[in-house]
Amino acid sequence: QKVVLAYSGGLDTSIILKWLIETYDCEVIAFAADLGQAEELSGLEAKAIATGAVKARIEDLREEFVRDFVFPAFRANAIYEGQYLLGTSIARPLIAKKQIQIAEEEGADAVSHGATGKGNDQVRFELAYMALNPGIKVIAPWREWDLRSRNALIAFAKKRGIPVPVTQEKPYSSDRNLLHISYEGGILEDPWLEPDPKMFTLTTSPEDAPDTPEVIEIEFERGNPVAIDGERLSPADLLARLNTLGGKHGIGRVDLVESRFVGMKSRGVYETPGGTIMRTAHQAVESITMDREVMYIRDSLIPQYSRLIYNGFWYSPEMRVLQNTIDLTQENVSGTARVRLYKGTCRVTGRKSDYSLYQPSFATFEEDDVYQQNDATGFIRLNGLRLRIESLVRKQMNSA
Ligand code: ARG
Ligand code: SIN
Repeated sequence: QKVVLAYSGGLDTSIILKWLIETYDCEVIAFAADLGQAEELSGLEAKAIATGAVKARIEDLREEFVRDFVFPAFRANAIYEGQYLLGTSIARPLIAKKQIQIAEEEGADAVSHGATGKGNDQVRFELAYMALNPGIKVIAPWREWDLRSRNALIAFAKKRGIPVPVTQEKPYSSDRNLLHISYEGGILEDPWLEPDPKMFTLTTSPEDAPDTPEVIEIEFERGNPVAIDGERLSPADLLARLNTLGGKHGIGRVDLVESRFVGMKSRGVYETPGGTIMRTAHQAVESITMDREVMYIRDSLIPQYSRLIYNGFWYSPEMRVLQNTIDLTQENVSGTARVRLYKGTCRVTGRKSDYSLYQPSFATFEEDDVYQQNDATGFIRLNGLRLRIESLVRKQMNSA
């Protein structure tokens, strides 16, 4: 049989590659998605072949990732438990989608991934596999093998000539793409321990950021950012540009404890510089272009929508309903936000739009037609009616 493995080139997926061949007597096709993880992809193909893969495929998915996964989530202002911008969660469905496509192209009957049996990623990968190819076989080595410790893994690797990095391994696990870097596990499992400042990769610390603020303008069309300071950029280039700007000014670091889908709490540290700026600017354009009641409905959907992404239900009927609804709310979300980047903060200092519902002229020129102060008297009286009735009844009860 033939298996398509989501492969990163790290120690774990190298071990998995070998383990699959030994355990299932199968051919393995190593697949790596380029989602903007930068340096980590060089030499990957040769490495996979050297470890025993019959074929290696590296796919540049950066534009698709930002256009079809990051942007839809940001149109929704998605955020999990009030803080996490879902950088890893939103990448998993795309990796799974491409993996299934490759399995179909290569005539493979199974797919495999390196997520552990304790986390969210296994759920996200496998729910996506099921939604996209209901018949595919899934192999999750971490839930099958008896390699219970780091030492057992290293022993397995050494015995089979898999190079184990000589440099001291990072004392935590990280996951990088164009939207963020996440750090968790290892020494970070103590939620009281402050991370080493040297851990951060995308951002300078706010204390060391420039003393002069930088002001930028971000233009949106239908809820998607399309230009920075008047320069139109592709989705991936735009996000990369915002990452550079946000990184320079120390924007987008978060240190939190989150609730995993499988039930336990987990400590995570994230750097999402560009995403943090993008979300702030998007909300500023929405503030002038979106109707109050529409915003109320959309905002009420954010926790539910974000939870679907976090829990791995990107490909689901409920997600299609929510995304369509959210995209409908974005039809007039076109305009420009000005933000000021300074020492870890991103503050809105202006917003404008051809669709702006904020119309000062309306009120002043046509004061008598559109707004008569007198109207407020009845408006407030009727809104207060049930409060007065309830108050009277309560007073009667208390005196009885
Ligand atoms: N806790 C985050 C999430 O569930 C990040 C997961 C990081 N995954 C990883 N394989 N390092 O989305
Ligand atoms: C893992 O357990 O493989 C990474 C963390 C997660 O999926 O939540």
